[in-house]
Amino acid sequence: MNTLEKLYQHLEKVYHFQSIVSLLSWDQETNMPENAFEQRSQQMGLMASLVHRNKTSELKKILQDVNLQELKDKDFLIVKRVKEDFEKWSKIPEKLAVKLTELTSQAQYHWDKAKKNNDFQLFAPYLEDLVKLKIEEANYLGYEACPYDALLDDYEKGLKSKDFENIIQPVVKEFYQKRTQEIDIQNPFKRNIPVNEQLSFANQFIKDLGFDFSRGRQDLSSHPFSNAISIHDVRITTRILENDLQYMLYSTIHETGHALYELGLNTELLGTPYSETCSLTIHESQSRFWENNIGRSLAFCKFLAKKLQEYLPKYFNDVNPEELFAVLNEVKPNFVRTESDEVSYHLHIALRFELEKALINQEIKVQDLPSLWNEKMQNYLGLVPTSDSLGVLQDVHWAAGLFGYFPTYSLGSFYAAQIYQHLKSIYPQFDNNIEKGEFDFVHKWLKENIFSKGRMFNSNEILQQATGSNLKNHIFSDYILTKIKFTS
Ligand code: CO
Repeated sequence: MNTLEKLYQHLEKVYHFQSIVSLLSWDQETNMPENAFEQRSQQMGLMASLVHRNKTSELKKILQDVNLQELKDKDFLIVKRVKEDFEKWSKIPEKLAVKLTELTSQAQYHWDKAKKNNDFQLFAPYLEDLVKLKIEEANYLGYEACPYDALLDDYEKGLKSKDFENIIQPVVKEFYQKRTQEIDIQNPFKRNIPVNEQLSFANQFIKDLGFDFSRGRQDLSSHPFSNAISIHDVRITTRILENDLQYMLYSTIHETGHALYELGLNTELLGTPYSETCSLTIHESQSRFWENNIGRSLAFCKFLAKKLQEYLPKYFNDVNPEELFAVLNEVKPNFVRTESDEVSYHLHIALRFELEKALINQEIKVQDLPSLWNEKMQNYLGLVPTSDSLGVLQDVHWAAGLFGYFPTYSLGSFYAAQIYQHLKSIYPQFDNNIEKGEFDFVHKWLKENIFSKGRMFNSNEILQQATGSNLKNHIFSDYILTKIKFTS
């Protein structure tokens, strides 16, 4: 076996270890009995140490025999990326990697309890410890302007706070306090539909969107997520309110977008950048694309109306696509990010970005969070959450140690708008096909132009190759202003 084959074999082994970690984490969020959480966090910690060693000291032994300059094309790009990864992973001590894994596993359990009991103090001590560890991590990784930048890099390589501010601030300014006219129709999604009927509808519906149940599944959890356990095992979750189908449906479509990306990746050279997702920005561009650009279009509402009548005839014999469209595109501030319209959503992201940046840069303390959250909600959205569960406790991200993730939701949405605009320009029949539920041409284009690129290029290079240009900020605004009529 030559040195390159040895390297690929090693990376595939690490990939399998990571699959086991993902499965443990999926189980914790869906099925695990409550009292198992302490041992689960120890199991996760043990796996983290195994993964860390194999990504650092064990990898080093193999990498030192591979000569990058002798490689060509695909192999060159893969090994170049792997060397960069190795440099980054090696900066983090194994002890810290293990502590972070154990703590995030526990913190998620306590966050869930705190959210259910509307008691921030149940979660605060874990969040304090997590912030300390994340600052430690940032210090090991190194940074120029501020520690938070070191963490942003995990989700969008090379992104700095300043870059993100320059992208998000014009959007915030343009859409600040924008509203659409109040709709005076009965919201067609608000009917009482039992959990099991909603879930079976969701499963039929995402199959129509292209989700392959022979390579994935959907379950319930407190916060919807998608978890790619392996290339042929991609799991998503949702949550259900009996009196509001939209609450379940649009998070399900979002997670399906993530799953379609994972299921469309290259299936060779597992564990290498050839078969990996590019970045969280590209990931969120896929989920937001299906949730919003496709999911909130009139063409899609026509398709959705047909499916509601077909799968849930008891509840939707009278549904009208124009009414679905109106409700889905009403711009009106909401306490909850995941239930927000496409416009005020980005004000939610700006709020989280400012708070987590200040936390990691040690400008504010965990104990300041609930009141700062409410203050910023008032500023940005003109609303004060009625409880911490609907405020500072609503998202799982900080409990999961994901500081620096939120910006990718906005970036992903802006990428998605550009992808959508491009697709509509090259397929004149776009809306016609969507209305009929013909999504294959979209899947095929995404696979060829995005999924198959793996992590061989960065986000912007992929966008550039796919749409012919770098991220253009005006495309998102144009897209919104074409579809939505504001009153103020
Ligand atoms: Co997402």
